[in-house]
Amino acid sequence: ERLRKLLRNMPKAELHIHIEGSLEPELIFELAQRNGVDLAYSSVEALREAYAFTDLQSFLDIYYAGASVLLKEQDFYDMTAAYLARAHADNVRHAEIFFDPQTHTARGVPFETAINGIWRACQDAPLSASLIMCFLRHLSEDEALATLEESLPFRDKFIGVGLDSSEVGHPPEKFARVFERARALGLRLVAHAGEEGPPAYIESALDVLKVERIDHGVRSLESPALVERLAREQMALTVCPLSNIKLRVFDVMGSHNLRTLLDANLAVTVNSDDPAYFGGYVNENYFAAFDALPLDEGHARQLARNSFQAAFVDPERKRAFL
Ligand code: HPA
Ligand code: ZN
Repeated sequence: ERLRKLLRNMPKAELHIHIEGSLEPELIFELAQRNGVDLAYSSVEALREAYAFTDLQSFLDIYYAGASVLLKEQDFYDMTAAYLARAHADNVRHAEIFFDPQTHTARGVPFETAINGIWRACQDAPLSASLIMCFLRHLSEDEALATLEESLPFRDKFIGVGLDSSEVGHPPEKFARVFERARALGLRLVAHAGEEGPPAYIESALDVLKVERIDHGVRSLESPALVERLAREQMALTVCPLSNIKLRVFDVMGSHNLRTLLDANLAVTVNSDDPAYFGGYVNENYFAAFDALPLDEGHARQLARNSFQAAFVDPERKRAFL
């Protein structure tokens, strides 16, 4: 139908996608075989059946297990190329892609192996793509600082830093020094906040880390003062509808607050987060939200416009997208 066609065909940017979360079960098995890695699952079907999450941590456990098959630069290239082809098919014109170097360096895979493979796929892509390096917040700030130092020889291959993994108990202020250092290096700054964590985490991401976008941010609605501020500052929220349902942030899509966030004049965007784990790439996220919520063509165009507006691209290229 008409609205679905608009959602599918409209040019859009994707700003919240973890590349390790784009690793499909089929590719996990292919890479396991190629690299002689033993998987705890006997088949693609058995692995897919394990994708029954109750919260963020239950997802992260299986997401880190899936990433264990990534050993060689070509593995990172193949994973990234597959995502970019899929995003291109969804009419994504620009993607800002998270990667988690600590997930790989902790297993003995060199930083350069991961970033070089991911980056080379971005260079070969049929769309514009940039990288954002995320620190794992369940690890220490000293480990994040060491990762930032390790990344410096590759400074030209990524545009910013982010913060992901287990949110509750690891507030943004734990990473004040490493974000300060990243800011001094001229890196763009984002952080996951207000997915499972309280509105106070969104506030400290803004005030302490000085981030320029909030990843998720759906719990902002619990604080009217914060909503007022996010609207005034037009602070972008990279919302991930299917993720929020799979990780039980909301019970069902019909109770997702996407429409309420839009009505509050927030700079909301729609994204896939970990598409191989949550049941769909970016267009599926638009479809699922628009099927379940009172959203129309105007909202669709607004969300697409927001996605380019919130992108870390220079104003001239932004104008060309808009
Ligand atoms: N939240 C936190 N960490 C993550 C996520 C997420 O949605 N996806 C991958 N790592
Ligand atoms: Zn995320």
